[in-house]
Amino acid sequence: MNVVLITGASSGIGKEFAEIYAANKSNLLLVARSEDKLKEIASNLSSGYGIEVDIFVKDLSEENAVNELMQYINEKGYLVTDLINNAGFGDYGSIIETDWTKESNMIHVNIVTVVHLAKEIAKHMVSNNIKGKILNVGSIASYMPNPFMSVYHASKSFVLSFSLGIREDLRRKGITVTVLCPGVTASGFQERANITNASFIKGRSMPTSKEVAVYGYSQLQKGRAIALHGFRNRFLVFLMRFIPKTWVTAIAYNLSK
Ligand SMILES: NC(=O)c1ccc[n+]([C@@H]2O[C@H](COP(=O)([O-])OP(=O)(O)OC[C@H]3O[C@@H](n4cnc5c(N)ncnc54)[C@H](OP(=O)(O)O)[C@@H]3O)[C@@H](O)[C@H]2O)c1
Repeated sequence: MNVVLITGASSGIGKEFAEIYAANKSNLLLVARSEDKLKEIASNLSSGYGIEVDIFVKDLSEENAVNELMQYINEKGYLVTDLINNAGFGDYGSIIETDWTKESNMIHVNIVTVVHLAKEIAKHMVSNNIKGKILNVGSIASYMPNPFMSVYHASKSFVLSFSLGIREDLRRKGITVTVLCPGVTASGFQERANITNASFIKGRSMPTSKEVAVYGYSQLQKGRAIALHGFRNRFLVFLMRFIPKTWVTAIAYNLSK
């Protein structure tokens, strides 16, 4: 059975991707840690859209997570046509105050798992002759350092560079790779990153996760390399080409402190 694999599908942008694919009659395999949320989403989508929805409950910061997921996919005989490599999180604070365990898990989920899963799914697509699609979720953070979210921003820079690299490689095998770069988006992200009260977030109007996922999905279908959401964000990234990175970082310090 063909399935679309979505990580971080229990909330926010990933959950909205699941709804979009369900509305397009794709069967789904949803991954996250929150079993109750995944079960509820799976039941709503399968009854609402008449599709098959399976869940794989896993902490993607675990060393063996991707191997276990791939073993499950092979046991079930699933053919993954699309991968939405979305699970990720951030953390806020000075590097001498933030928690290393949380940061090392972040590096694992945002980088190691993204790479390992893209690699295994690309191999799976090639060996099953699937002309598939991979969407990795980067961020506006991919384009600039942030002194109070240094690890998160660096992890998203990695995702942007990695995605562009494998895109050029995999397009020769019939696989499309797109990197979705949302700006600040309303989701569970802010709470987990401890930034709900930060001055650059409080009272700010943000696009919904649905708007971002709809945009990401449309750009993926068009085969775009980079899907940077929002005119303001695109303009900001354009302007940053002309400003030294050290200045950008100093401005980010003042905006985020
Ligand atoms: N919201 C923003 O402002 C924003 C901006 C740019 C980029 N992004 C990126 O967008 C992606 C989605 O985030 P979101 O905004 O939708 O935030 P969210 O609502 O917090 O969703 C994050 C998803 O990732 C999953 N996840 C987190 N840690 C995990 C782990 N260790 N193992 C398995 N799943 C895990 C969560 O599921 P469980 O908690 O159930 O495990 C959840 O489903 C992330 O990569 C984020 O960096 C967000």
